[in-house]
Amino acid sequence: MTTTTWNRRHILSLADFTPDEYDTVLQTATSFWEVLGRRTKKVPALQGQVIANLFFEPSTRTRNSFELAAKRLSADTLNFAPGTSSLTKGETILDTAKTYLAMGTDMMVIRHREAGVPLAIAAEMDRLGTAVAILNAGDGQHEHPSQGLLDLFTICRILDPEKPRIDLLRGKKIAIVGDILHSRVARSNIWSLTATDMELHLAGPPTLLPKPFETLGRDRPGKLVLHWNLQEALADADFVMTLRLQKERMTAHLLPSLREYHQQYGITSDRLKSCRPGVKVLHPGPVNRGVEISSELMDNPDFSLISQQVTSGIAVRMALLYLIGVGRGR
Ligand code: NCD
Repeated sequence: MTTTTWNRRHILSLADFTPDEYDTVLQTATSFWEVLGRRTKKVPALQGQVIANLFFEPSTRTRNSFELAAKRLSADTLNFAPGTSSLTKGETILDTAKTYLAMGTDMMVIRHREAGVPLAIAAEMDRLGTAVAILNAGDGQHEHPSQGLLDLFTICRILDPEKPRIDLLRGKKIAIVGDILHSRVARSNIWSLTATDMELHLAGPPTLLPKPFETLGRDRPGKLVLHWNLQEALADADFVMTLRLQKERMTAHLLPSLREYHQQYGITSDRLKSCRPGVKVLHPGPVNRGVEISSELMDNPDFSLISQQVTSGIAVRMALLYLIGVGRGR
């Protein structure tokens, strides 16, 4: 396993990740990718550590992926379901976290519909002088760092499966299309993808891609460009990431109709013709088939990396739990 040093305990955001940290995650995930291809897919690295999955919001991929990653590292896992927990009796989120702390939990993986909840719990754990690590598994519209890292791993593995690393993005053009306003995935990806000298093009209707997003590109090594016209974003793109329309987070009527949205911003095989040959398509899932991406393109293995993203997620989350968990032991 990798010998690279790792000093981060909580993973709350990718905003301050360094290129070295990205490379450490990519390199560690590559080792675990290899482990996951073996007959015996389990390693004893985190034996005896307790990892609690505190998902206050629905999830299929992220929750199961973190759980499987923890199990593959031989950690003990605790799962929390808000509907059947003491939250229903009025317990606060901080008190729930302290209950898991009292049980000897070493790492808490937290998803919540409000931005900042994982940060608040991390601050409380630090204030109490504990060594508990907090991993943000998606907080409101803020960030989803493990998704950003698994997307990065998936992209870099296409460019060099043996040695995925951040500088492979140099000179590449990547387009992120759709509901950027409500997307924590987009925000985490903006940080990771602009960490090197590349071009990140964001495209969506003005109601879902407001102008202030431009400011996120300030002082980044990569170039960030906004488009309200899809074709400009797709021209010569090496990768296209499309995002789910987050209907549950839309408070106003931001779109005329789903049909019209698909006509203007839906990704289809035909639309990819202006991209670079070999272009690949990503989507964090869950997908609204026929809205942000055509059903046919989603299922086309020549273009779609959607299933690979899910598989990558396990190796990347193993890497994160391992880097933090082994650090805790030092
Ligand atoms: C995303 C999420 O929950 O932020 N999904 C995921 O974790 N794979 C994106 C979404 O909900 O559209």
